[in-house]
Amino acid sequence: MIPLRSYLVFGSLLAGLLYADLAAERSRSAAEQAQPDKKPPIDFARQIRPILSENCFVCHGPDDEQRKAKLRLDIKAGATKELRSGGHAVVPGDPKNSVLLQRITSDDPDERMPPAKTNKKITPQQAELIRQWIEQGAHWSEHWAFVPPQRSAVPVVKTAGWARNAVDRFILARLEAEGLSPSPEADKVRLIRRLTFDLTGLPPAPAEVDAFLADSAPDAYEKAVDRLLASPHFGERMALDWLDAARYADTHGYHIDAGRDMTRWRQWVIDAFNTNLPYDRFIVEQLAGDLLPGRRCSRRSPAGSTAIT
Ligand code: HEC
Repeated sequence: MIPLRSYLVFGSLLAGLLYADLAAERSRSAAEQAQPDKKPPIDFARQIRPILSENCFVCHGPDDEQRKAKLRLDIKAGATKELRSGGHAVVPGDPKNSVLLQRITSDDPDERMPPAKTNKKITPQQAELIRQWIEQGAHWSEHWAFVPPQRSAVPVVKTAGWARNAVDRFILARLEAEGLSPSPEADKVRLIRRLTFDLTGLPPAPAEVDAFLADSAPDAYEKAVDRLLASPHFGERMALDWLDAARYADTHGYHIDAGRDMTRWRQWVIDAFNTNLPYDRFIVEQLAGDLLPGRRCSRRSPAGSTAIT
């Protein structure tokens, strides 16, 4: 079980890496044009699915009611089966005979997908990405959330001395691949300020800055991290993203702005972080807490408690 704390702290770090990855993807495709025979494998879930999802799934997605031409493009079986018109939307390894590609690149407005009335367009770059993906065999991959994580090998880096741990080496390897070098380390005042904002959402108190400046131990930073993780404000900071996702508000926020007290739930989320509740437990209790045996809160519970609806 992954403790909630590391899951989320590293979750935001990974989101950052993923973002860097996407940015690098763009620069990589520019580099590819210069060297057309060196093509990195295209990842369906990350690069192709979002294009289809945005432009095609309203009519060719999972919804049976809305589906047009009996064509379903979100699953391999649907995209590769024989079409009503005879061909196949996707023929793995064969872009020329893939009707999907013909339809997204067609000059004929009656043929072109997505239909003009949707006001959506596939850019030439996106069409090229789809072409390459089909050429590479049209591999479908599942959404990353359903793929069990696998430990990656820690990359080898050229610059000696900068990386202090495995995470650093992933970052450094990517910087090196992009021809970038790391920025110099920030001064201690900046470090404690950034760290305190990151972990508590608050600025450090002057005394905390002074204590950090006075601490010349090699693990001064790690100690500051531990101190902030132990702070009750850590849970408040981490709860914020969940509250935003659930559209938490002190009142309804509509035109009839009546009160709606959800503070018990808010406190529960904060406490979950501060007590480092395991992530699976956190999700189960959030989604179906009222169905658990021995639950403490239900719709019919006495005044003061509020059900999550
Ligand atoms: C607004 C609804 C809509 C959207 C969005 C849409 N399509 Fe279609 N699609 C249709 C309809 C309706 C047909 C059947 C009429 C036709 O063949 O033009 C069709 C037909 C097709 C066919 C041919 C099916 C056959 O039997 O020959 C393909 C391939 C296709 N669409 C691919 C796509 C792709 C790829 C996208 C996204 C880039 C997309 N469509 C977006 C409505 C849509």
